[in-house]
Amino acid sequence: MIEVKSSQVMVYLVAFIAALAGLLFGLDVGVISGALPFIGKQFAATELQKEWVVSSLLVGAVGGTLLSGVISRRYGRKRTILASAVIFALGSVMASLANSIGVLAGVRLFLGIAVGIASFTAPLYLSEMAPQRIRGRLISMYQLMITIGILLAFMSDAWLSYGEHWRVMLGILVVPSIVMFLGVLVLPESPRWLFLVNRKDDARQVLRKLRAGEDEVESELADIARMVEVRTGALTLLANPRFSKVILLGIVLQMMQQFTGINVMIYYAPKILENVGLESASEQMWGTVLIGLINVLATFVAIAFVDKLGRKPILAAGFAVMGLSMGVLGLMFMLGIGSHAHKVIAIVSLLVFIIGFAMSAGPIIWVLCSEIYPLAGRELGVTISTATNWICNAIIGATFLTLLTNLGSVGTFFLFGVLNILFIFIMLAFTPETKGVSLEHIEENLMAGKPLRQIGN
Ligand code: BGC
Repeated sequence: MIEVKSSQVMVYLVAFIAALAGLLFGLDVGVISGALPFIGKQFAATELQKEWVVSSLLVGAVGGTLLSGVISRRYGRKRTILASAVIFALGSVMASLANSIGVLAGVRLFLGIAVGIASFTAPLYLSEMAPQRIRGRLISMYQLMITIGILLAFMSDAWLSYGEHWRVMLGILVVPSIVMFLGVLVLPESPRWLFLVNRKDDARQVLRKLRAGEDEVESELADIARMVEVRTGALTLLANPRFSKVILLGIVLQMMQQFTGINVMIYYAPKILENVGLESASEQMWGTVLIGLINVLATFVAIAFVDKLGRKPILAAGFAVMGLSMGVLGLMFMLGIGSHAHKVIAIVSLLVFIIGFAMSAGPIIWVLCSEIYPLAGRELGVTISTATNWICNAIIGATFLTLLTNLGSVGTFFLFGVLNILFIFIMLAFTPETKGVSLEHIEENLMAGKPLRQIGN
């Protein structure tokens, strides 16, 4: 009994420390909205220069993701996460010292590399460390940390904005970076990676710390061994339609996550709040913090249910909630946000949208993308799907204001509403249910040619 407990504590410790990567992801993504006005003022920056400061991080993240597949395969998951912690720490200090917009944009590009690496390696590492019955919960914890990071960034921005301390906003991120570095230093390496590089005894030692008993350790080792034996190179795998099919699924899943419209809310919350009638800057600021808070709280719903109800029902419910709330928001803009009642309905639908995302697509798309690929092609698969996430993220970030100008608020929110409803059907048609199934079983089904929807059965 005691053994069961200590292995569980170890698993949660691993999850917590690795999920710090999620915290930094959220902090770095969230921090800029509040810091930007002061940065713009200090350097008399043009709109274009400001856009560069925001989006250079996203561009860096695409690059970081692409790099991390190769790095984490060659040097292991642990060292890759450590490298990202070093970049986070150096980048935070450098950003706080930047003496021009160009330097700041360059440093944010560098920081983006760490965000990309972290967003790739942390969920991969977690899926390889977790016992299958709580795998979904652990990866959802990673998403929880992203949301906490975003919330903390919104709060610290709100607070520091009174003194216009943008250098402190950016520099303070060195603290969580160092905590993450020290935490990850004591973590074990992923047993699946150890096996891949032929360190079988080390893999066994790690599993002993993470699993309840010797039976569980041996059966998991046997599963991994079977998969490593039949492995072919990832690029050769690409020629196999069964593998390319699942690669496509990962791309579609991450596209759906971003095109729900979540980052429209995250990046442009104050502007949307202004449009729905919150006029003062302080109302908008605290409204933004409320959005961040709801984003954190609703993630707990996913954590509680992802391994009980399964991935698909929660995703379907989430897309439906997001579709309807975007629809209602569009409707309010159509009717005109003149009356108090319309204003309240608009703000509530915005918050309901956030709940819909945080309880479903936020965590669950990351969960699915860490589960569906065969071991030999996992780095490649996660690389491609994570890069898709960042590319679509950048597209949404860069086009929302243009959409708003061309389609108006009504058209823009209706468009996102329709997309979310469409995603219910796409998701149901192609996504497997992976709750409680071992990664090896999913791989066997995929490579045996089962339709995607059934590889979890
Ligand atoms: C998404 C991010 C988003 C965040 C919001 C993540 O799952 O990938 O783009 O900003 O959730 O909580």
